[in-house]
Amino acid sequence: MSAKLSVTMNKKPIYDIIIENDFEALAERLEPYRNRRCMIVTDTNVGPIYLDAVSEKAATVYKEVYSTTFPAGEDSKNLVTIQAVLKELIEHQFDRKDCIIALGGGVVGDLAGFAASIYMRGISVIQIPTSLLAQVDSSIGGKTGVDFDQYKNMVGAFYMPKLVYINTATLSTLDARQFYSGMAEVMKYGLIMDASFYEWILEKMYEIHDRDPATLEEMIETCCQCKQRVVERDPYENGERAILNFGHTLGHAIEKYMDFKLLHGECVALGSVCAAYISWKKGKLSMEEYYEIRDMFVPFRLPISMTEISPEKIVELTKADKKSDAGGIKFILLKKVGKAVIDTSVTAEEMLAALQEINFDENE
Ligand code: GLY
Repeated sequence: MSAKLSVTMNKKPIYDIIIENDFEALAERLEPYRNRRCMIVTDTNVGPIYLDAVSEKAATVYKEVYSTTFPAGEDSKNLVTIQAVLKELIEHQFDRKDCIIALGGGVVGDLAGFAASIYMRGISVIQIPTSLLAQVDSSIGGKTGVDFDQYKNMVGAFYMPKLVYINTATLSTLDARQFYSGMAEVMKYGLIMDASFYEWILEKMYEIHDRDPATLEEMIETCCQCKQRVVERDPYENGERAILNFGHTLGHAIEKYMDFKLLHGECVALGSVCAAYISWKKGKLSMEEYYEIRDMFVPFRLPISMTEISPEKIVELTKADKKSDAGGIKFILLKKVGKAVIDTSVTAEEMLAALQEINFDENE
């Protein structure tokens, strides 16, 4: 199975999302860059596995193929790494017609996309996401950037890729924790905008655990379609796109509080449980719906509780989140499964109560 989605802006096609289960069709897709140069940006986890395969395909089209590899992990997501990538581009005399390929997970995509957005005021970037999280979310929609001081994703740009090429077979080498971390973003689409997809995820639980290729392809395609619908309507997050941040306001604060020892999706799962709890307490969800949503994360090996946390410190950290604006935090709540709403009335006390709710030991 292979699929192609064409992402538009103002009804004009901007880039394709290609879903394949190998890299075979990649060279054909790179054809518009024939005789140009490309820099493949990757990290120390992904480079050793996929850099050769992608370089080989790229070399059939580009006149020169270079690569740069940085240490894997959130610690690299900063302006120092951006500077290193820019230096490589300058050293090899890249010009505005040349191209960056982002090969890796969310950190690689955000970093390489941001470097592409500022080098010579913008060169082309192609996203080849290799983690579940990047395939279903971060490689699509043009959000790029880095962390700055204690602020996550604080410096960056909206910068659309020229192509997103997803090879679902790369998920076979993803470690289990990373895979399930991506499942938090998959579940997000069901919760915020597609109740039938939510049911599908529950039905296909065993196939998802087994990483059955056909199931994963169908799942990824549905997520890409969901994301496509939202970013086409609101590419620069002036409104509706904020629903994609469901679970992220407290999720990002927890991520920071835990000093990035928990993975992004694990924190999003915890943030989603809190958001569902607040939705219940504000009368939007029933108690039964809250518990059903909370417990749905468990089979996907995602946490629904934490011990020994300081809810006060976590709430304090939400103030450093760029999702807040002068009018307060834009919190994403659920009206029901499949329907998210943006709410600016969530108070610190409501967040504290939600964090206290998840402050227990699941094993006791
Ligand atoms: N990951 C959320 C967004 O792209 O808006």
